[in-house]
Amino acid sequence: MKDAAPTTVYLEDYKPFGYVVDSVHLTFDLAPNATRVKSRIEFSPNPEAADRRFWLDGEKLKLISAKIDGKDVNPVCTAEGLSCDAPDAPFVWEAEVEIDPAGNTALEGLYMSNGMYCTQCEAQGFRKITYYPDRPDVMSVFTVRINGDLPVLLSNGNPGKSGDGWAEWHDPWPKPAYLFALVAGDLVAHSDSFTTIGGRDVALNLYVRPGDEGKCAFGMEALKKSMKWDEDVYGREYDLDIFNIVAVDDFNMGAMENKGLNIFNSSAVLASPETSTDMNFERIEAIIAHEYFHNWTGNRITCRDWFQLCLKEGLTVYRDSQFTSDMRSAPVKRISDTIDLRARQFPEDNGPLAHPVRPDSFQEINNFYTATVYEKGAEVIGMLKRLVGDAAYAEALDLYFARHDGQACTIEDWLKVFEDVTGRDLTQFKRWYSQAGTPRVKVTEHWENGTYRLTFTQSTPASVASPAPQPQVIPIAVGLIGPNGDEVVETTLLELTEETQAFEFSGLSAKPVPSILRGFSAPVILERETTTAERAFLLAHDTDPFNRWEAGRTLALETLNDMTLGGAAPNAAYLDGIVAVTRDSSLDPAYRALMLGLPSQSELAAAQAESGHTPDPMAIWNACETLRQTLAEKLQDDLPGLMAEMRVEAPYRPDAEQSGKRSLGGALLSLLTRLDGGEEAARQYAEADNMTLQLSALSCLVRAGKGEDALRQFYEQWQGDRLVIDKWFMLQVLNAAPDRAVGAAKALTEHKDFNWKNPNRFRATLGALTGNHAGFHAADGAGYALLADWLIKLDPVNPQTAARMCTAFQTWKRYDAERQGQMRAALERIAAQPDLSRDTTEMVSRILGA
Ligand code: BES
Ligand code: ZN
Repeated sequence: MKDAAPTTVYLEDYKPFGYVVDSVHLTFDLAPNATRVKSRIEFSPNPEAADRRFWLDGEKLKLISAKIDGKDVNPVCTAEGLSCDAPDAPFVWEAEVEIDPAGNTALEGLYMSNGMYCTQCEAQGFRKITYYPDRPDVMSVFTVRINGDLPVLLSNGNPGKSGDGWAEWHDPWPKPAYLFALVAGDLVAHSDSFTTIGGRDVALNLYVRPGDEGKCAFGMEALKKSMKWDEDVYGREYDLDIFNIVAVDDFNMGAMENKGLNIFNSSAVLASPETSTDMNFERIEAIIAHEYFHNWTGNRITCRDWFQLCLKEGLTVYRDSQFTSDMRSAPVKRISDTIDLRARQFPEDNGPLAHPVRPDSFQEINNFYTATVYEKGAEVIGMLKRLVGDAAYAEALDLYFARHDGQACTIEDWLKVFEDVTGRDLTQFKRWYSQAGTPRVKVTEHWENGTYRLTFTQSTPASVASPAPQPQVIPIAVGLIGPNGDEVVETTLLELTEETQAFEFSGLSAKPVPSILRGFSAPVILERETTTAERAFLLAHDTDPFNRWEAGRTLALETLNDMTLGGAAPNAAYLDGIVAVTRDSSLDPAYRALMLGLPSQSELAAAQAESGHTPDPMAIWNACETLRQTLAEKLQDDLPGLMAEMRVEAPYRPDAEQSGKRSLGGALLSLLTRLDGGEEAARQYAEADNMTLQLSALSCLVRAGKGEDALRQFYEQWQGDRLVIDKWFMLQVLNAAPDRAVGAAKALTEHKDFNWKNPNRFRATLGALTGNHAGFHAADGAGYALLADWLIKLDPVNPQTAARMCTAFQTWKRYDAERQGQMRAALERIAAQPDLSRDTTEMVSRILGA
């Protein structure tokens, strides 16, 4: 059957479902092309609902039989579900459907990956498994029986009886259907256990394909650390006797928090020093924490409807970022999160896809798992915590868990616990949830008679999503630094609530230098005209590590803009400041590595567009090359010594300390490669005994145009490891010179290992192309055309992944008329495909502004 025609769903139309689901029994008879699913569901009238229409969602299901209270019924079926006359009293619904897991390439519902059955039900995948009220406010207790000739048969909750070829599971916690999961396959377990603070012994298993047993230890440790941390910091204890994680190779997202049975993209859980980089390890630790933390923020307390997605995702991202800060370095995590926010969320918030953290309408909910809902959603929680203080935040969270356990909630419920605990009126603060767009905050200063005044003006650009934005509550952390570098006013939180507002600091003996928006205290764009000398002063003296980094970042941005737009030479103050920081052995190497990074080329393009220029991707690329070359020459004499200091004694550990050293070592190697023609990189490549060193050396060689032999060797060495071969695909495209990137990507799509139906491999190739800014934006439009070709091919097979990758075009209006025309043509070509999915149709039409 064809996909349903796109319709728009509105938050304001929310109505509770007419029935309550008292229990669900499911029986699966597994077969690759014809799995039978029998359901036995107890319904009773919902006293809270006015409308008692009996409608069950269902897509791509073959209905075999349907009964109410044991009698056959004849429901009216459409492409989206069925309706049927039903009693206005409790009744039992029984249905049998047939589905085709092996033919399910969309990876939503029940599908197969390497001979293993697995599910992905969030947001609306359960309706591809059986007829059901597939909405998060319908929560019920599930009992599952799996019949299948496979050694491992898993579902949610606690294990029940089992025998040869069958197993039963019972989940005592009421849950929405999106948290349902089933896994069946020839898997092996890496097992451990955890005793909760209340004394419950929990069996922990990480299930993987035979051969991957050696890549489980790190993920298991991360899980135990997460369980402990959630007890210690949030007072949250685990609530089942077992916690299972399964790794699958074909998965659209990173991972999924199904109750008691998390399913992970294998790239987000499997790790070993030989095959994974430090960055992989850090991401795995964070994502395991994230999915585990959902057990309370998402599962025990879930969302009333999908407009409330940020209720679980924003909060859980916030919680996992706190966890990473505690496990590793807080400043490094804050800086990394800000880089990520600016790279992914700012373009979204300031382009055609802008939407509020809590959207008010959608066509396809899968398109709203966005950086705005996730990362800006987490920033909003960080701001709330900053405004109310740590103690009130903790109290509000306790109240949230106590008041709403077992419920499906809204953002109103969330804000109410803060209002009740603090007595504060959060009406204005709530605009962070309802208005799209990144606020701009302009600052001016005034100094007179020992009094220093800062005046702030906020404005948010109007957009289709928010035509008339109002002033928001913006927490601005400020410190003042005296001329000798001492801090004269410690970090103070200013609350900006008006469009224009001034704050005064008196009793100062000399005009201070302000350090504004410390710790990136709000997700805004700060605009302040100041001198290079002052930025250089903050780069040398700011006691706030975030703003010290930010000073260097702003200097880099300014010098790169001057170089690109005005042909200026690299700014000496920037170079000297960065050289001093790089040499400063009192600073954490991870922090110094961040200091050495430049703003991304896409960020530079955005900044230039914002200031009324038309960005030229090649000119930006050239400016970055020149700046790096100049920096390399400046550091020439330091490089060997510094690199020696960054060498790490075996054994390899992916902790903050060692990975910080390798990170700075990698940044230095890439500078050195510009000077020695790749000699040191070749040596490091040959000697590397872990993937971090091997990959950083290989990337340097490829960038230097000297990677051919090493690339061949790398492929030979790792051709049996899918996750490492993903890296091999990705690094060739990412590190290709602009004029070769499209060719490199195209050649890789013709490689025998280019399995385009695997989302990881597809993203490693075409996603990497969109990450090579000057390459993707090649003047002849070949990058746009290649991406469009592949999105057109992918859409009928995997609409979710195709739609998500359309975001590469969201910045099209930034560029010159020629490129705009090429991108528009690519988008229109996609839009013109017959039977284009609802997912991609929505994305393309929003990007085109149609
Ligand atoms: N609930 C999501 C997974 C999900 C997203 C399912 C979209 C269906 C549609 C999960 O908790 C999640 O957020 N995963 C993130 C990683 C996380 C660390 C932010 C992911 O998969 O990228
Ligand atoms: Zn999540």
